[in-house]
Amino acid sequence: MENLDLNRLPKHVAIIMDGNGRWAKEQGEDRLFGHYHGVASVRKVVEAATEIGIKYLTLYAFSTENWDRPAQEVTGLMTLFVDTIAKEVPDLHKNNIKLHFIGNLSMLPDEAKKALEDATQQTAQNTGLSLIIALSYSSRWELVEATKKIAEKVKNGEMSVDQITETTLSESLATSAFPDPELMIRTSGECRISNFLLFQLAYAELYFTDTRWPDFRKADLVKALLDYQSRERRFGKTSAQVQTNDI
Ligand code: IPE
Ligand code: IPE
Ligand code: MG
Repeated sequence: MENLDLNRLPKHVAIIMDGNGRWAKEQGEDRLFGHYHGVASVRKVVEAATEIGIKYLTLYAFSTENWDRPAQEVTGLMTLFVDTIAKEVPDLHKNNIKLHFIGNLSMLPDEAKKALEDATQQTAQNTGLSLIIALSYSSRWELVEATKKIAEKVKNGEMSVDQITETTLSESLATSAFPDPELMIRTSGECRISNFLLFQLAYAELYFTDTRWPDFRKADLVKALLDYQSRERRFGKTSAQVQTNDI
């Protein structure tokens, strides 16, 4: 932790929380046991991010594709989301954390929808860490929705085709209120993006660790941040240009 340069922290860290199922299997338990233990990691990482001074933390909790898992696992996860939100929101609120949810939330059961709306409303005035939970989220879904919004505007004469820019697209995404993540972490060994923030991660540093999500703690986050700080972010320029600050 003392080796972290607090002036060069990423503003926004995104995490694909993977490996709950494998972790549970390794303990001889069923998959939901892994998801329950994954909640402890969420709590620890949110605490650590707040303490370190990260401004935005996006956690991939459930993908559009995850709806195709066995019904028992999906139902168990929905119950876990509702229970966790009810249990954690008072503490999150006390810690000045602002909650956001991105994804196709219309697919969620009513009880979950209500819990998310209440949590969002309750923490809306907070000014500390923005905690963004991607739920029933997929990047291709988000891009299709953004395309529809832009097409509507063109159709209604609010903008012309020539006025469509990268900013237009960025502002039409579910993440329009947040800067792009500079660092994306995926746990549990898989080196893929799995339909997560495809547009927003264009220039993110990617960090993959074998650690299963239920084992992920503050020290693992710090390790990822140190790795991030050891990299030279060139954005297409040469190393010499970056080093002379000629950006
Ligand atoms: C991540 O862990 C949590 C969700 C996708 C909801 P997994 O459930 O994908 O765990 P593995 O990949 O099967 O180990
Ligand atoms: C990605 O994990 C989604 C979440 C972590 C919520 P998956 O475990 O569903 O991804 P794949 O299927 O292995 O790519
Ligand atoms: Mg997985």
